[in-house]
Amino acid sequence: MSGDIVDPAAQSDQELQFEGALRPSRLEEFIGQEKVRSQLTLLLSAASLENRTPDHILLAGPPGLGKTTLAMIVAEESRSPLRMSSGPAIQHAGDLAAVLSALTPGEVLFIDEIHRMARPAEEMLYLAMEDFRIDIMVGKGPGATTVPLELAPFTLVGATTRSGLLPNPLRDRFGFTANLEFYSPDELQAVVRRSSRVLNIDADEQALSEIAKRSRGTPRIANRLLRRVRDYSLVHGGHATLSNAQAALELYDVDDWGLDRLDRQVLEILIGRFGGGPVGLGTLSVSVGEEAETIESVVEPFLVRQGFIVRSPRGRMATPMAWAHLGRDAPGLNDL
Ligand SMILES: Nc1ncnc2c1ncn2[C@@H]1O[C@H](COP(=O)(O)OP(=O)(O)O)[C@@H](O)[C@H]1O
Ligand SMILES: [Mg+2]
Repeated sequence: MSGDIVDPAAQSDQELQFEGALRPSRLEEFIGQEKVRSQLTLLLSAASLENRTPDHILLAGPPGLGKTTLAMIVAEESRSPLRMSSGPAIQHAGDLAAVLSALTPGEVLFIDEIHRMARPAEEMLYLAMEDFRIDIMVGKGPGATTVPLELAPFTLVGATTRSGLLPNPLRDRFGFTANLEFYSPDELQAVVRRSSRVLNIDADEQALSEIAKRSRGTPRIANRLLRRVRDYSLVHGGHATLSNAQAALELYDVDDWGLDRLDRQVLEILIGRFGGGPVGLGTLSVSVGEEAETIESVVEPFLVRQGFIVRSPRGRMATPMAWAHLGRDAPGLNDL
């Protein structure tokens, strides 16, 4: 769904630059996620009092909720340098060994999409996290031996959209797991209020509220919609008013509930082709023409949270609310 306005994944270099400018750099500027924020505050303060590196931290949740931002904040708050890597970039144990052996004491290592790291690297990481040590293979064949290598103490911050895919031994080695939740409309309104200040956008509070309502609980989407509303207002005259916001969002196919084309397509197929389900993930994603991973980690969590679909052991099912949203009558119990 690249190019889609409500794709929670970042889309372009330009967008990444915008995001950089909009990222809060301290915990107290980070909006919402109260629980995670107070847990992190405690964890970082305790480490700083005892003058040690903070425990390893796992950040789990759908894209666009602030995982990368939090990783940067952890480094900032503990006044440590940050080194960034990602699961897909670590395809061999050697890739990880190179990253780990270059760490300086106290450094924060961020591994994004950590569930996509190669297996042998994962095993090396267990030892590194636990004992700040790795075993390096030297030589090949029967003469091969391993040589232990001491590492500088570091804090690993892992991010994943699919914590279910992490092997237990890896998950267990994190001292703290933060499960990020979708944001409430009020929180998103605070996010875009802050962003409009940072970007010098003159936006009415009603416009901010409208954007917040339609942002699928996701700050990245809220910031993106804010920019579209700003563009629209620039071109059509005036500042970001409620009516400019509504017109811009309509133009980009974002409905009152924040559902975009792909969300509605999933509901339409579920209801139109499968009578509301249950349908398995594989069948559903093939029918929609999207990757199962996108459906499972991006589309579904939002639709489930909004009460449009439920997951059952037999597959995904549309709720009466979904039928109503598409303007159709849900089948009565007698029809089932
Ligand atoms: N709690 C928050 N408060 C303010 N801005 C946020 C918050 N969470 C995310 N953002 C903004 O949303 C965008 C995406 O966040 P990011 O950390 O890249 O998400 P993720 O890594 O989970 O995909 C960034 O521009 C960031 O500034
Ligand atoms: Mg990220």
